[in-house]
Amino acid sequence: MSTETAPFEIDALELGPMENFVYLVRDRASARAAVVDPAWDVPAVLRRAEEKGARITDILLTHSHYDHINGISAILEACDARIHLLKSESRFWGRALERPTLHHGGDVIGLGETRIQVLHTPGHTPGSACYRLDGHLLTGDTLFVFGCGRCDLSGGDPEAMFATLKDLAERLPGDITIHPGHNYAEKSVSRMDEQREGNPFMHFRRRDDFVEYRMRYHDRHRDQPYHPVSRTDIEAIFGPQREG
Ligand SMILES: [Fe+2]
Repeated sequence: MSTETAPFEIDALELGPMENFVYLVRDRASARAAVVDPAWDVPAVLRRAEEKGARITDILLTHSHYDHINGISAILEACDARIHLLKSESRFWGRALERPTLHHGGDVIGLGETRIQVLHTPGHTPGSACYRLDGHLLTGDTLFVFGCGRCDLSGGDPEAMFATLKDLAERLPGDITIHPGHNYAEKSVSRMDEQREGNPFMHFRRRDDFVEYRMRYHDRHRDQPYHPVSRTDIEAIFGPQREG
C-alpha cells in the first residue's frame, strides 16, 4: 500500500556514520509528527518537519543503542515531545528520561488519526520494538532488508531473535512494507513476502542452527550491501530446515 492514501506519510532520512535511518511519521489530519529513533543530525530532522508543515509531538524509540537515541536531547530542546519506548527497554537502558511513556507489546499510540501499534520484538535488545502502521512496519535493528540485528551485544539474545523473526514472518501480511533502522542493503525498503523469500534469517526452522548462523557464521561470510539468500543456500550449509 502506498502511503499516499494512508492517513499518514513516512519520510526516511539517512543520517550519521552508521547508515542509520531516522523516520518522520506525519499524521496528515493533525500535522502532528513522530520522530522514530532521533539521532546524529537533528537539524536535518527539524528542517524536514518544517518543510512538511509538521509539528513534532512524539519520539518513538525502537531501542536504546546510542546510534538510535543520540538526538533525543536536541529534539526535546526544540519540541515539546513525548518519548515512547517499551518498559522492558527502559529497564535495560537504565537512563532517567524526561516524560517517557512506557509501553507493553500490543499498545496502540495515537498520532492524530494515525494508529501506531507497538510490537515487542526482543533479540537485538530485551525491549526492542517494532512500530506497525497500516501497511508499514518500522523495524529498528530487529529486521533489516535481507538481514537482522546482531545478538552478541549486551542484552542480545539470539534465541529470542529466532522467535521474534518467526513470529513476524508468520503473523504479518506479505504486502506490509518494512522500514529498517539501517541502510544495509541495496534498497532501503522491502516487503515481508520478499523477506520471507530472501532473508537468510527467515529460512531457519531449527533454533540451534539459527543461533550458530547469527552468532558465528554470518559476519564471517557476508558483507554489506546484503543481497537475498535463498532457503536452498541455507539448507546447503545447515541441512534441511524442518520444524523441531
Ligand atoms: Fe542497535
